[in-house]
Amino acid sequence: MISSLTTISAPPAPQGEARYRIRGGEPVVGQIRALGAKNFTTKALVAALLGTSPTCLTNVPPIGDVAITREMLVAIGVRVTAEGDALTIDPAALASAQVPIPDSGSNRIPILLLGALLHRFDEVAVPVLGGCRIGERPVDFHLNAIEQFGGIVSTTAEGYLARRRGRLRGTQIKLPYPSVGATETCLFLSVLAEGRSVIANAAIEPEIIDLITMLRAMGAVIFTSAGREIRVEGVPQLWGTRMPILGDRIEAASWACLAGASDGDITVTGINPNNLGNFLAYFQQVGGGFELLDNDSVRFFRRGPLQPTVVETDVYPGFSTDWQQPFAIMLTQANGISIIHETVYENRFGYLKALNALGANTQLTTHCLGGLPCRYRDANHEHSAIIVGPTPLYAEGHEITIPDLRAGLAYIIAAAIAHGTSFIRGVPMLERGYGDVVPRLARMNLKIERIWEA
Ligand code: EPU
Repeated sequence: MISSLTTISAPPAPQGEARYRIRGGEPVVGQIRALGAKNFTTKALVAALLGTSPTCLTNVPPIGDVAITREMLVAIGVRVTAEGDALTIDPAALASAQVPIPDSGSNRIPILLLGALLHRFDEVAVPVLGGCRIGERPVDFHLNAIEQFGGIVSTTAEGYLARRRGRLRGTQIKLPYPSVGATETCLFLSVLAEGRSVIANAAIEPEIIDLITMLRAMGAVIFTSAGREIRVEGVPQLWGTRMPILGDRIEAASWACLAGASDGDITVTGINPNNLGNFLAYFQQVGGGFELLDNDSVRFFRRGPLQPTVVETDVYPGFSTDWQQPFAIMLTQANGISIIHETVYENRFGYLKALNALGANTQLTTHCLGGLPCRYRDANHEHSAIIVGPTPLYAEGHEITIPDLRAGLAYIIAAAIAHGTSFIRGVPMLERGYGDVVPRLARMNLKIERIWEA
């Protein structure tokens, strides 16, 4: 069970605008639990629709994205009940395949519902997608996959429509890029399709591996092999299962960066260190240290002065694009010039400008400052950052507005190390992905409050 502060619902409805007030400048010390992974929970909610009996998810985080997904499921007839940190999803009464736009916001999940629901209905309509504006984020791989499995798709003013005649058929598909979402769509399509499917160049993020485990527990026959190839033998029916949600590796790395940036000492519980992969190598390379306390808790601290580095974001097992923002804050405190080459999204450095206002010295360029093959090499996107450190940060009542979810947490880290008081606006964006963030951080020694502006 999680703390009494936690309920699986959207953050409280705003009366005016919520902001965070942070008084920073001290090392952050203490213990914090990584909640269940956002980027698995919402997918597990979709997977549960493929079963003929209820599924129970545990360690579900109290975040906005779960509330949005839940609202979509309930709107099409699915029964979702919460108890403590568990959600039970009963798809028996699933009655409609016209997914509405949720009142509580929008996220990337509708496109996953398009493929999953097509097993149950001849025609499925889902709304346009929300989520963070960190690039164009097309969905062509998803739509092409549905067509390859025998569906017919069209784009409408309201969103996307998929139709089928007869059962979907297994196919061989090679993704143009190892997209997380498109791999999930292919898994949802293939597990109940007729015959064998092969998904080549698939994503292999820990959340995908857990999705495969969950689908196997529901009766799916899925084989993984060396390389990025997944083979699925379609079955006529799946059933419900129990599935614990893995700890959020993005959150865990962010708390590590908070320890490194503030010269603090933070123990993160609820995280499998294996899922932090190369983050641990980069963290050590820049002067961070860690100690494994048991198989799901890791203590993070600094071993000495921070050193600069060159990082390129990549698909797993590379350095995650979702680790980039908190790591950049830590690099503002390193002794020298660091470089980050973002190769996953073309527009994920929007948050750096606000950091410069606090005293950071960062600059963006359209050039690829790295050696990885990059889809943005000949385009005009500012996708490489140069960070010159160390720069102490100062806040004199500065207000910073969160441009996207991960940048939001980076701003919290920046405000935590900045001397003085900062105000962070746009917190509903952050709370789509981070639950109980204020009480959890305040239980360490960070002076953070959620305040309301009339
Ligand atoms: N792409 C296409 N066409 C497609 C699908 C993807 O060109 O049809 C491109 C994207 O534009 C991007 C790249 O492929 O350049 C990778 O996108 P991917 O499909 O892997 O991303 P996603 O599934 O939409 C998930 C996470 C992201 C995370 C990425 C990469 C969720 C809900 N979102 O997005 O998380 O950054 O994988 O690991 O799982 C976040 O949590 O803040 C977040 C953005």
